[in-house]
Amino acid sequence: MIKNYPGIFISLEGPEGAGKSTQLKLISKQLETLNYKHVITRDPGGTALGRQVRRIVLNPENQIEKIAELLLYQADRAQNVAEVIRPALEQGLLVFCDRYTDSTLAYQGFGRGMSFELIEQLNAIATDGLKPELTILFDLPSEEGLARLHPGSQDRLEREALEFHQRIRAGYKQLIEKEPERWQVIDASKPLTTVQAEFKKIVADKLAIKLD
Ligand code: TMP
Repeated sequence: MIKNYPGIFISLEGPEGAGKSTQLKLISKQLETLNYKHVITRDPGGTALGRQVRRIVLNPENQIEKIAELLLYQADRAQNVAEVIRPALEQGLLVFCDRYTDSTLAYQGFGRGMSFELIEQLNAIATDGLKPELTILFDLPSEEGLARLHPGSQDRLEREALEFHQRIRAGYKQLIEKEPERWQVIDASKPLTTVQAEFKKIVADKLAIKLD
């Protein structure tokens, strides 16, 4: 794939409770000590508009139609790509996005049973074709991930049945089979420090730098 920007785009994926956000904070601190310029964003919620969308989609009091949910995630993503991700990549920065188009294939496709063709089309429209060059899956059994969440304060997606979350985990494996060269998988059920070491190694290899 020919890139039309000088930056590096890495997306992070995983089921609930995989610890992606914690890992991102840790690696960001390390990159800062090296003065390695980078941007961390998330889907949903990487922009002011996206944070409003995030509140709507994750609020357990909202009854949201499947198609409305899909379009809300895509609206958030369109804004994030236009406002944050593409400009940063054009400036040559490293961009980490905590969830991206694969989350929609996993959650709305495998989880909700929506058409993959439709999702792919909307992903392409929302991102204007912008794809990550590396995607890291923080993988762990659904039961383990859900058990890590704070009881009583689960969001609308976290409250879905175990089977929904199991379809998502299995779905990620299918996505990897389709495009193995783009993915790296970390066993997120291991201790935090082990996960951190594996994450650091993958990122350091990608950037051709040393991180310790
Ligand atoms: P998180 O950012 O805390 O992981 O929460 C985002 C939730 O939204 C999570 O349950 C995954 C879900 N999600 C989708 O269902 N579709 C999407 O396209 C994205 C980006 C997230």
